[in-house]
Amino acid sequence: MRAIEIREPGNPDVLQLTERPDPAPGPGELLVAVKSAGVNRPDCLQRQGGYAPPPGVSDIPGLEIAGLVEAVGEGVSSFAIGDAVCGLVPGGGYAALCTVHESNALAVPGGFSLSEAAAIPETYFTVWHNVFQRGGLKPDETLLVHGGSSGIGTTAIQLAKAFGATVITTAGSPEKCKACEELGADKAINYREEDFVEVVKEVTDGEGAQVILDMVGGDYISRNYKAASVEGRVVQIAFLNGNLAEADFSRLMLKRLVHTGSTLRPRSIAFKAEIASQLKQKVWPLFEKRTIAPVMDTLFPLERAAAAHRRMEEGQHIGKIMLDLE
Ligand SMILES: NC(=O)c1ccc[n+]([C@@H]2O[C@H](COP(=O)([O-])OP(=O)(O)OC[C@H]3O[C@@H](n4cnc5c(N)ncnc54)[C@H](OP(=O)(O)O)[C@@H]3O)[C@@H](O)[C@H]2O)c1
Repeated sequence: MRAIEIREPGNPDVLQLTERPDPAPGPGELLVAVKSAGVNRPDCLQRQGGYAPPPGVSDIPGLEIAGLVEAVGEGVSSFAIGDAVCGLVPGGGYAALCTVHESNALAVPGGFSLSEAAAIPETYFTVWHNVFQRGGLKPDETLLVHGGSSGIGTTAIQLAKAFGATVITTAGSPEKCKACEELGADKAINYREEDFVEVVKEVTDGEGAQVILDMVGGDYISRNYKAASVEGRVVQIAFLNGNLAEADFSRLMLKRLVHTGSTLRPRSIAFKAEIASQLKQKVWPLFEKRTIAPVMDTLFPLERAAAAHRRMEEGQHIGKIMLDLE
């Protein structure tokens, strides 16, 4: 099969088109003829040598796919050959064929293209777990999401709004802020011009945000504690500005904050299956009505994976960057 491999750790040019043996579906697995694969920031980290696949997982990058079921492994009961599915995979997505456990796959929502469907799994699984399960966001609460125009951010804005929360977000340009507000954010803060702590306080009448989804880290850690409400929950999903920081921890104690975080990729198939089942029940009906849909930035052909990574690292994108296969 055609696939993109990481020749050696380095810049996007180390991504090269290659031929690999076709994978075979194991028990409970689907073999999917991939039509589209999502590009996510963790793929860039893997390419740079900083995010190795979990043991036993393909070295081919790619965490989410959509396509048609080509074959099924022993015991598969939820899908059949020819079904259109999207799925969360721990690796191997940048390829013409990819295996996914049936419990980590979902039917392509009605009316969605396969590219749109492939743009769902990584950010929706991540946001569902971190904002709703871990952060416990409730309908009458305020979510502050950093990086609002990112794949993760655009998903968090839409999901939090769909479930009745107020959403404040940060982004690095007026265009990105405009896109976030058009998507439903109640307030987008250009962090290059304004202090998000002050604006969050202003917008929430001094109360602060009950849940903060943060991918930035660094000096945001201390500032998040300031922007959080009493009993607030700060959920860390990455550290784009560094994972070492000086912070005033007295706020944790005085406001009774919870500071937590998680990474999705190494979690078990059963854990991801539970998220898939909640998404099917709570979020798939919103896709079917097209109340929400992934925000699509650029589609690249598979062989231009290096250009797709460059686009992500230049940071001008809004929403999802995808690799499409013929
Ligand atoms: N823990 C997990 O399970 C999990 C799962 C998936 C993704 N993630 C993480 O979530 C983050 C977002 O992923 P994504 O795929 O949505 O990526 P993405 O679209 O590239 O988003 C990165 C965003 O962060 C903002 N940003 C702020 N400070 C930055 C900095 N110093 N360097 C680069 N960007 C910076 C960027 O825009 P502006 O600065 O212009 O606003 C951009 O919107 C990534 O860090 C990824 O590793 C974690």
